[in-house]
Amino acid sequence: MSEDNRNRRDDDEHTRKVSELFGRMTPWYDFQNRAFSLFLDCWWRRALVRSVVPGPTSTVIDMAAGTLDVTVSLLRRYPELNVYATDICEPMLLYGKERKLRPEERSRVTTLVADARNMPLPDQCADAVTIAFGIRNVRPRMDALREMHRLLVPGGRACILEFAPVSTPLFGPLYHWYLRRIMPRLAGLVSRSTSAYEYFADTIEHFPAPEAFGEELKQAGFPFVQHFSLTLGVVHIHIAVKG
Ligand SMILES: C[S@@+](CC[C@H](N)C(=O)[O-])C[C@H]1O[C@@H](n2cnc3c(N)ncnc32)[C@H](O)[C@@H]1O
Repeated sequence: MSEDNRNRRDDDEHTRKVSELFGRMTPWYDFQNRAFSLFLDCWWRRALVRSVVPGPTSTVIDMAAGTLDVTVSLLRRYPELNVYATDICEPMLLYGKERKLRPEERSRVTTLVADARNMPLPDQCADAVTIAFGIRNVRPRMDALREMHRLLVPGGRACILEFAPVSTPLFGPLYHWYLRRIMPRLAGLVSRSTSAYEYFADTIEHFPAPEAFGEELKQAGFPFVQHFSLTLGVVHIHIAVKG
């Protein structure tokens, strides 16, 4: 087997495991998000949605949409929008679809079980792609970034919300101690599984710093890239505009 094929097989295996992991944690996912971030996660997603600018297609793709928090936030801000909520994990999508959408919002949302690396949607079909806390799970990341670029109309925006390692002197070590030592234990009390939060800490600690991630977005074809930090650099919003 060639090295390329081996890498592809490992990446597919990783994707399958990630889907199973989120499938297992679906019932606790929202509760744990709110509890561990002290509800900051809702504010972070709303900040992401504020970076979206609807355009000629009136369509936004919410990649790795999970339980539809970003999808719902998009619709509450722009009720006329059509949103594709896509994710590899069907239980997450179903949970959000059944519990969070208002009756008048149902016809505006299409849920799709789809891999961010290979999206079953045509070129230039959306004004914006959002992805909140999803990109750090995707291997290889570049495939998903290229897909975002392909799906957007010229001038369209990829709006990405993601954690990154925190390197500031006092807060950084404290934050990583909380991530490594405290969060998995608290998660274990709720769901009797600590492995999801060990994985969670690993992916944050290995995600590139914002400047390096900006370079990846440029490599994926986006000429205009910017980012801003929220909550002492715990999360960043990256905005990449297609030329
Ligand atoms: C931490 S959750 C974020 C969910 C949601 N966006 C939110 O803000 O709560 C990460 C999501 O990424 C999804 N995911 C991971 N790899 C993916 C891939 N290759 N393609 C699509 N979704 C993926 C998982 O199934 C999971 O629902």
